[in-house]
Formats: sequence, structure tokens, C-alpha cells
Amino acid sequence: MIEKIYFEDQIILIKPNKEVYYPMEDTFLLLKNLKNIKGKILEIGTGSGAISIYLAKKFPKLKLIFATDKNKIALKNCSHNARLNNVENQIKFFYSDLFERVPKQKFDFIIFNPPYLPTKKEEKLKNSLNLAFDGGEDGLRTIERFLKDAKKFLKKNGFIYLVVSDLADLLKLKRLIKKFGYCAKVIGEERFFFERILLYKIKKNNS
Ligand SMILES: C[S@@+](CC[C@H](N)C(=O)[O-])C[C@H]1O[C@@H](n2cnc3c(N)ncnc32)[C@H](O)[C@@H]1O
Repeated sequence: MIEKIYFEDQIILIKPNKEVYYPMEDTFLLLKNLKNIKGKILEIGTGSGAISIYLAKKFPKLKLIFATDKNKIALKNCSHNARLNNVENQIKFFYSDLFERVPKQKFDFIIFNPPYLPTKKEEKLKNSLNLAFDGGEDGLRTIERFLKDAKKFLKKNGFIYLVVSDLADLLKLKRLIKKFGYCAKVIGEERFFFERILLYKIKKNNS
């Protein structure tokens, strides 16, 4: 079955798969805040492809979005979803552990809705979907690796959009942002009974 996701003036067609992250509130927090997106775009951890597909439909002038995932099932699913939405020519999907296989070039925007939930060994999921949630003990295991390398792929005046939950260690995140040479502000949030999810807009500290 194919599902239709209505977001603002766009309809995104997605084939749900139980081992692939289905677009949720954190996905929509990003979509809501991705304005004036142009130039070279890289999405890390594309999952169903919803974000890259949305951008390709919303901004037809975007000729080639790079989108990666470490979940091979997700990569098949997002490629299929891109075809359903007729944007397969605008997005290059490929397997990569973070930046490992990203071509050496600089991007205007790097977008990542990462696995950010603090996760103990016994809380891990048994299938590929674990990659979508498992942020390690402090929620920052993947985010720390991401921040360490992202600056090599970001243009001088480029921006990173990164989602994080307040269940993760936000004080440590603040330290990491400084340590790796960025500055950041929170530009959006969603509140739930048990959690807040925050959208960080991050740039290189060029000073
Ligand atoms: C929370 S989901 C977000 C999916 C999609 N971008 C969205 O917003 O709906 C996180 C995604 O990151 C992927 N991921 C986790 N660790 C990764 C890594 N080291 N490199 C690339 N992708 C990774 C997961 O497989 C998953 O698809």
C-alpha cells in the first residue's frame, strides 16, 4: 500500500516498510523550517527519502540532491519512493556511513535527522530500524561523529540542520558544537508530554 503525506502545498507518496523510519514529527519539524533551500544539498540518513523528495518537489531548480543512509533496506525504499514521486532524476541516493562515501565536495546545506535517543544495550531494536533511533548511552554517539566530519563538507557560509531531543545530553552537545568549531541556534521545536525535539541551525565559526 502506498501512503500519501500532505505537507503544506506538497503531497509525498511513501511506501511504508517496517524496517525503515516512517516520517514523524521530527521529519516535519525539518520540513517546516527548510526555507530558501538552494545550491548543493546533502541529506545524511534519508530513511524513506521523505525530506529529499519533498525538497526536490518543492524546489524543482534543485538539480541534484545527495542523500545517504547506512540502512540498505532504507536505500531501496527511498529510491522506490523517489520514483513514485517522479523525482528520481533529482536525487542521488547512496550507501554511506555518515560521510564515508560522500564525494569530496562542499555543500550549502547538510541536513540530518539522526538517531538521537539515549539507548541502553537492552533497549536496542533487533532489526535495521534500530539505526533510526539508537543514539548510544547519551543520545550523541552518531551526532558526535557527524559534527566532527561535517565541517569538511560544508561551505564557508553553509548551514547544517540537525534535529536533537532534549532526552539527549544537550550540555555535551553544546560543548561538541564549540569544540568542533561551529556556532548554533535553535530555530524550531516540538513539545510532547515526555520530550522536546529541537532543530539546530549550525554554521562554521568563521571568526
Ligand atoms: C530518525 S531517522 C530519519 C529518517 C528521515 N531522514 C526522516 O527524517 O524521516 C534516522 C536515519 O539515519 C540513518 N542513519 C543512522 N546512522 C547512520 C549513519 N551512521 N550513516 C548514515 N545514516 C545513518 C538511519 O538508518 C535512519 O534512516
